Amino acid sequence: GESDLELITRLIRPFPDFPSKGIVFRDICPVLKNPAALAAVIDLFEQHVRQTHPLVDLVVGIDARGFLFGPLLAQRLGVGFVMVRKKGKLPGPRVSVGYTLEYGTAEAEIQEDAVSAGQKVVLIDDLLATGGTLFAACELMKQRRADVLGCLVVVELNDLSGADKLKPHSVFSLVRY
Ligand code: PRP
Repeated sequence: GESDLELITRLIRPFPDFPSKGIVFRDICPVLKNPAALAAVIDLFEQHVRQTHPLVDLVVGIDARGFLFGPLLAQRLGVGFVMVRKKGKLPGPRVSVGYTLEYGTAEAEIQEDAVSAGQKVVLIDDLLATGGTLFAACELMKQRRADVLGCLVVVELNDLSGADKLKPHSVFSLVRY
C-alpha cells in the first residue's frame, strides 16, 4: 500500500508560472483537505521532534501557512504555539527584523512576551525556498535569546539552497523538489 509520505507527496500540486513566470508553485491545499494526509504530516513532524528535539518548549509558526501546521504540532507535543507575523499585524511591544524577498523587502515581527530568553523552540512553515523568511525568524529568536533547535517544513526547494542559508540550524523537510 501507499505510505504516509507517498500520500503527502501525491497530494502536493505543482502550478507552473505562479505567482510569476518561471516559478513552480507547490500547493499544499489538497493535503489540508485530506484528513489522513494532514494527520500524516503532523505524525512525521511529531516523531522527528520527539526523537531529535525532545526538550522543545515552544512551536513558532511563520505567517501565513506555518499557522496551518504549527498549532496542530504544538498540541501533539503538549507545548504552546506562537506566531511570527508580517509587520503591522501584532499589537503591543514587539521585536522586528527586516529581510529580503525576490522583489523588495519585508519585515517579520513577534510580540516581546511570546518567547523568553533560554526557551527552546522549533520553527515551522509550509515551504523553504531561499530561506529568507525562516532566516528572519531565526534572527527574531536570537534577539529574544531563545534557542532554535531546528526548522520544520513540508516542502523544501533544493535548488534555492535555503538549508545552507539557515546553517548551523537544521532543516527537516518531508518532500523535496
Ligand atoms: C512563502 C512560504 C514561506 C516563504 C518561503 O510565503 O509560505 O513562508 O514564502 O520563501 P523563502 O524561503 O524564499 O523565504 P509568502 O512569503 O509567499 O507569504 P504567505 O505565506 O503569506 O503567502
